[in-house]
Amino acid sequence: MSDSATAALFNQWRERCEAQLAARLTDRDAATARLHEGMRYSALGGGKRLRPILVYSTGTAFGAPATRLDDAAVAVEMLHVYSLVHDDLPAMDDDDLRRGRPTCHKAFDEGTAVLVGDALQALAFEVLAGDEGSPVPAAARLQQIQVLSRAIGTDGMAGGQAIDLAAVGMTLTPAALEDMHRRKTGALIRASVLLGAIGGGITDGPRYAALSQYGASLGLAFQIQDDVLDVLGETATLGKIAGADAARGKPTYPSILGLAESQRLARLYCDRAISSLAELGPCAAPLAQLADYVVNRSH
Ligand code: IPE
Ligand code: IPE
Ligand code: MG
Ligand code: MG
Ligand code: MG
Repeated sequence: MSDSATAALFNQWRERCEAQLAARLTDRDAATARLHEGMRYSALGGGKRLRPILVYSTGTAFGAPATRLDDAAVAVEMLHVYSLVHDDLPAMDDDDLRRGRPTCHKAFDEGTAVLVGDALQALAFEVLAGDEGSPVPAAARLQQIQVLSRAIGTDGMAGGQAIDLAAVGMTLTPAALEDMHRRKTGALIRASVLLGAIGGGITDGPRYAALSQYGASLGLAFQIQDDVLDVLGETATLGKIAGADAARGKPTYPSILGLAESQRLARLYCDRAISSLAELGPCAAPLAQLADYVVNRSH
């Protein structure tokens, strides 16, 4: 497939994910209308949708129809949005701009933002658990839930965020910095790849291991590039305030290792991600293209 055909496919996955999200974020009752408004505001207002695109790209590479990947795609994006809403709170990064709009706690209030995150997290697992009509076999759904819950707990996102908060104003060793990034961002990106693999019937063995390696390296490269863009990017392009990390004394790759070394490492982990795909054959070409995108992106 040509690069432009793959790019069109990514757009198609993004649109599909957005339609799926909208369908699952409708009001449930009048009493929780404001909470649902906050959930829709946060989940439907832009974003690259990289994690759902990884689910669709990986699953379809192994023959899964998109209908068998929708629940996983929606679940990973809901968890990502929950992490963003909480990450922006005054108690964490205290940011006012997200995806080019006021952050959830600015547009609503802090209590609502806490609950928007909580409810999106719960809904993600409700969606993934499915029901009798689910096109994904129950054993596969259970494995997806296991992978995803580990990726966002203390070994993954929440743990990484705790390390991040504890390290504000301090310096970390390069090994501790890498561990933090692998957890806070890398783990959910790796899980997105694995959920797609499971949806495509790859549940263990060498191909599963290769995809796990790919996702882990890609996730690390992604957060290093996020740190780099905080230094080099512009607020209008990023949709979040540039320079916020330095202003808040956040531990980042550029602050600890310098900008040039950070850019070198982002490229190195991207190349490592691509190398992990070697044994998978041509079906993995879109995943290699996604890895290039991760380090070449401007927002
Ligand atoms: C931002 O993630 C937060 C990190 C984990 C680095 P994205 O850069 O994927 O944000 P959106 O979803 O495109 O807004
Ligand atoms: C966010 O890292 C990681 C998670 C949301 C889990 P950042 O704090 O660097 O993300 P941005 O830069 O605010 O998007
Ligand atoms: Mg943060
Ligand atoms: Mg932040
Ligand atoms: Mg950042």
